Amino acid sequence: MIITKKVLRNVSLTAHPAGCRRYVQDQIDWVLTHAKQSKDANYPTTDGSNLPKRVLVLGGSTGYGLSSRIVAAYAGNADTINVSFEREPSEKKTATPGWYNTMAFEKQATLDGLKASSVFGDAFSNEIKEETAKRIKEEMGQVDLVIYSLASPLRNDPVTGQTYRSVLKPIGKSFNALSVDLGCDEVKQATIEPATEDQIVETVKVMGGEDWSLWIDYLLEQNLLAENAMTVAYSYIGPKITYPVYREGTIGKAKEHLENSAAALTKKLEKVNGKAFVSVNKALVTRASAVIPVVPLYMALLYQVMKEKNIHEHCTQQIYRLFLDRLYADKAVLTDEKGRIRVDDWEMLSDVQAEVEKRWALQQEGQPLVQGDMDGVVEEYEQIHGFGFSDINYDEDVDPRVI
Ligand code: NAI
Repeated sequence: MIITKKVLRNVSLTAHPAGCRRYVQDQIDWVLTHAKQSKDANYPTTDGSNLPKRVLVLGGSTGYGLSSRIVAAYAGNADTINVSFEREPSEKKTATPGWYNTMAFEKQATLDGLKASSVFGDAFSNEIKEETAKRIKEEMGQVDLVIYSLASPLRNDPVTGQTYRSVLKPIGKSFNALSVDLGCDEVKQATIEPATEDQIVETVKVMGGEDWSLWIDYLLEQNLLAENAMTVAYSYIGPKITYPVYREGTIGKAKEHLENSAAALTKKLEKVNGKAFVSVNKALVTRASAVIPVVPLYMALLYQVMKEKNIHEHCTQQIYRLFLDRLYADKAVLTDEKGRIRVDDWEMLSDVQAEVEKRWALQQEGQPLVQGDMDGVVEEYEQIHGFGFSDINYDEDVDPRVI
């Protein structure tokens, strides 16, 4: 079939196998280049010898999780297991990009002598936790690092069977702000009604730290965490301008819960001399972030400002810095006063934020976005679904089942 991009309300319904393969290969190549370079102004260098060798990535098929897997494998020679939720392809329907990415990554990693496999299914369920434990025992014995990078709209509680849904809403009062859609750079007014009490509780159930803790409890109980094992979950803070819909909204409550879970997990991990961290990462275009109201407009301005200052990073660059300059650097792990790792440090630089605010004030409803990098945001969104690569022939008839 001819696979074309189809985006509905900032959600891509299709993905291109050849483009996803290209995307994964580009990320691998970036890591290999930087891991080999002897000196780079922005990035630390290591021979990778102290990086973890057996890594479990929960949500490792796209976005920050995929980058975590790629950095673990290609900067540290790690064997990896991914757990993610995917739709497989059929003759007439494309797979999720996560499925294509995973197939492409595992093929290449295997060729390069690394073990790489996946457990596809609902990471919140007991069955998938058990299947993953079995896989770890068979393939690795134990793991040295567990990355928690799930972003999901819902969670079925494995004990009660209740379904919780996460929402991206402000708390207390409605929020009016300018926004843009990915398909069109016209600035529009967005109004988001506040969440109900139940929606706040449910969002915390889905995106808070409960499931992360269940994973770590279970892996500890099964003796699958190696001595000095670490676990890291990803969070976001962002600028004041997005506080009502992010940090002070329902998702912010969930992130607070996630962040508070790290201390309790570190306590539990004392058994194996391990540690739990939350890493606050930069705002980047992923399948999850594209659907947050107002955030695409912020990202378009942020990308432009950071590119002008030559400090823009993509997911893989962020994770490379997280692994090499924070988690496994030859020094104590650098955290903020709340114990969080901050690789959003460049995003939050005061001159970057001041410039973004200045440009935000220039935006007008009904007008095209000005002084921002909407093209860059759209290009990245396309590429994470395998589209927009100039040397891929998108008119070619391809079998969506073949990667
Ligand atoms: P993403 O949408 O690219 O990745 C989500 C991953 O979770 C995918 O691998 C998906 O298959 C998996 N997943 C979702 N539901 C699942 C389920 N029920 N069972 C198994 N796997 C499931 O999202 P992104 O943006 O990489 O988010 C990952 C984490 O990073 C989230 O906690 C997010 O809040 C955080 N983060 C994201 C930032 C951004 O700007 N994109 C910034 C800072 C933190």
